[in-house]
Amino acid sequence: MNKATVVSGIRPTGYLHLGNYFGAVQNFLRMQEDFNCYFFIADIHSLTTHPTPDNLQAGVKQVLAEYLACGIDPEKSTIFIQSDVPEITELYTILNMNAYLGELERTTSFKDKARKQPENVNAGLLTYPVLMASDILIHKAHFVPVGKDQEQNLEMARKFGKRFNRMYKSEVFPIPKPFTFDGADLIKVPGLDGSGKMGKSEGNAINLFDTEKDIRKKVMRAVTDSGPTEANSEKPEAIQNLFTLMKIVSEPTVIEQFETAYNQCEIRYGDMKKQLAEDIIKVTLPIRERIVDILDDNEYLAKVARMGAEKARESALKTLKEVKELVGFRKLY
Ligand code: TRP
Repeated sequence: MNKATVVSGIRPTGYLHLGNYFGAVQNFLRMQEDFNCYFFIADIHSLTTHPTPDNLQAGVKQVLAEYLACGIDPEKSTIFIQSDVPEITELYTILNMNAYLGELERTTSFKDKARKQPENVNAGLLTYPVLMASDILIHKAHFVPVGKDQEQNLEMARKFGKRFNRMYKSEVFPIPKPFTFDGADLIKVPGLDGSGKMGKSEGNAINLFDTEKDIRKKVMRAVTDSGPTEANSEKPEAIQNLFTLMKIVSEPTVIEQFETAYNQCEIRYGDMKKQLAEDIIKVTLPIRERIVDILDDNEYLAKVARMGAEKARESALKTLKEVKELVGFRKLY
């Protein structure tokens, strides 16, 4: 029972796409076997962009249902909703006293967001890394799986943890490390627009929740060219991307058939895309069906959320008690 602790937060915006599925989610599935995992939905972080209450709730339910449908197991991992654990915001208040304006203003994610939403540069946006640090430190995480875009935020969490430990001469917080899988294990899923990787904001994504019809339409519209004119020529990026997608979802014999056709300048991209769409659907359709079922089962969602909240609060309360004792919040009654 001495497993290392992993914490990861997911913002409830948008749908999971194939890139998330083969990148992050597959890794979460492996991690939940080997670590004491806390996966949570970062609904408090979401408030920085002022969602409507209905959109916020729908987003939370959707992400929860999607992760469960992918196989994140509430018996193995602690899956919870951030706002169900008030201890996180209590720790956030305390950590804010040792987070400095200068360092917060210099954070790349803050500068990016301030540029993107100049009409809403709120204090929550500024202290986003402090809330994220609280998410991580409250469970005494050893590892945090992070993509490139979150590296700096994790670095801040490490800094705030160290600073607190030093200030109160304690070792209450282990210093969390970024969790990276071996390079070879990391699957990069390309988008359908000819260049770069699949991403929510790039508009080139296939969502797990897309219908068969959506998927066929998106794949048929993927960027191609007029085809090779010389045998065995190198593939331009857009074409290589289609082959890369095939490698992820299709049978080796199918891929070989299209490789050969390409090399002999006989490839028909229409046929290739039709095949690719069907093979993607084979992966996503069962997941989509599970998402639909789970979304329809409010009782199950409630049960998972309640169980997660209980487990997460138990762990959070333990840390918070130590922290309060350290800072000098000692009861007079
Ligand atoms: N900031 C992360 C993102 O935008 C989400 C997040 C919030 C998170 N708290 C976290 C990730 C704690 C890891 C650990 O994706």
